[in-house]
Amino acid sequence: MVAAHEAAAMLSSVPFFASLDDKRRKALVNDGKELSYKAGDIIVGEGASGVGFYLVLDGKVEVRKGSRVIASLGKGEFFGEMSLIDDQPRSADVIAVAQTRCWALSSWAFNALVKANPDIALVMLKELVKRLRVANRSPID
Ligand code: CMP
Repeated sequence: MVAAHEAAAMLSSVPFFASLDDKRRKALVNDGKELSYKAGDIIVGEGASGVGFYLVLDGKVEVRKGSRVIASLGKGEFFGEMSLIDDQPRSADVIAVAQTRCWALSSWAFNALVKANPDIALVMLKELVKRLRVANRSPID
């Protein structure tokens, strides 16, 4: 586990949290926790109820529907937001494919963060639009 000041520095290097000032980032450090996974660990299981939002600090995860890989996510990217936004079960599995560290926020802390920081909502919206465009792309595009 990293010290709080290291965690704050780490979060400042991630574009997702870049819009926050130092004070807010430090507060966020106390709200979340760092979790480590080894390759093969299921971080989020399709159909489960969603209790956390995850930001990849390092390593790599795959978003999968059964055996189909629908996305690969690495450092600075996030997952687990969908269930927290619409209160529905997890839409896919998210599996570590290398040693991976994530920063995890409870649904409560995630909601508070987004409500207090509209810039973060915008960063997330842009990423969601990007993911939708990829999903809409036909195999021959
Ligand atoms: P959630 O449904 O809470 O849990 C599974 C997560 O996988 C989901 O949130 C998203 O973060 C992620 N996910 C689902 N579909 C895609 C996709 N098409 N591209 C990237 N990530 C996705």
